[in-house]
Amino acid sequence: MLKELEELKTKAVSELDGIDNLGDLEKWRVRYLGRKGSLTTVLRGLGTLSVEERRTVGAVANELKATLESGLQQKQEALKTQNLVDTIEQTRIDVTLPGYPVSIGRLHPTTRTLREVCSVFSSMGFQVVEGPEVEWDYYNFEALNIPQDHPARDMWATFWVDTEGAGRSRLLRTHTSPMQIRLMEKTRPPVRAVVPGKVYRYEATDATHEFMFYQVEGLAVDKGITMGDLKGTLFEFARRLFGAERKARFRCDYFPFVEPGVEMAIDCFVCQGAGCRLCSNTGWIEILGAGMVHPDVLRRVDYDPDVYTGFAFGMGVERIPLLKYGIDDIRLFYSNDLRFLKQF
Ligand code: PHE
Repeated sequence: MLKELEELKTKAVSELDGIDNLGDLEKWRVRYLGRKGSLTTVLRGLGTLSVEERRTVGAVANELKATLESGLQQKQEALKTQNLVDTIEQTRIDVTLPGYPVSIGRLHPTTRTLREVCSVFSSMGFQVVEGPEVEWDYYNFEALNIPQDHPARDMWATFWVDTEGAGRSRLLRTHTSPMQIRLMEKTRPPVRAVVPGKVYRYEATDATHEFMFYQVEGLAVDKGITMGDLKGTLFEFARRLFGAERKARFRCDYFPFVEPGVEMAIDCFVCQGAGCRLCSNTGWIEILGAGMVHPDVLRRVDYDPDVYTGFAFGMGVERIPLLKYGIDDIRLFYSNDLRFLKQF
């Protein structure tokens, strides 16, 4: 019996030495000190011994039990400390390391252009207003001299929001011109405002067409406003945005809601008018449509065309950075490719 205890001690102690984690330690405890553990079994067997033997063996067994228990406790503490050290080691941070660089956002080229355009006009006394993107047929077409079945509706391929049965009276606005009507309905002259915003056209996208893009509309109505005011204002705008040396050209164009209607072009800032790829060898770049507000439009909002006159213009916004930076595909603007956007 004593020999058995001696062997048990050697084995238990050497196993304990080799343990390096709390899970194994618990298994060890169960194996030797548990209810069915080796030492417990020995102690239970004491009853079968003679009184004499029981005394000696019992003393040795108890001593062994105390040895194993204190060994267990020491090991437990050592492992816990080790765990703590490991954790600290793993989670340690070097506060002297340089931090991650903070990436600074930037404004989208369209946003920048919109702000530039609006600030040029607001410095000339135009207020900046915005309007709804889902618009009534009345404002988008009807009030702008484009009644149902008018061929000019073909100039805009339209996203209808209402279903056919509902009379198709609402749509995603195809231009910002409906805001001319909304503005004039709400105020009496003088009116001077620019309207930046999104417009939508139902078309297949390619390098020069997007189904959504931005426009800036302009409107000025007062007593005695003439075509000269329109030219002066837009000349000044072109020079501020594209450079003081820019020349501008007006040519006849047709929009049902202006009379007369014009298209404005600036001389190409790449070739200075000599002709190049950017201006398709014409020397001129078209940048906007404009004209004098049609008397019928004025009448519709209860402005007397014999007293008041006005001009209106509308320009595509993406076209400006497109030209300025030589971007060859309009789809790049809204495909959210950071490699493109980071260049601005
Ligand atoms: N709304 C016209 C377009 O989208 C542009 C325009 C605005 C023309 C105002 C004349 C006056 O093509």
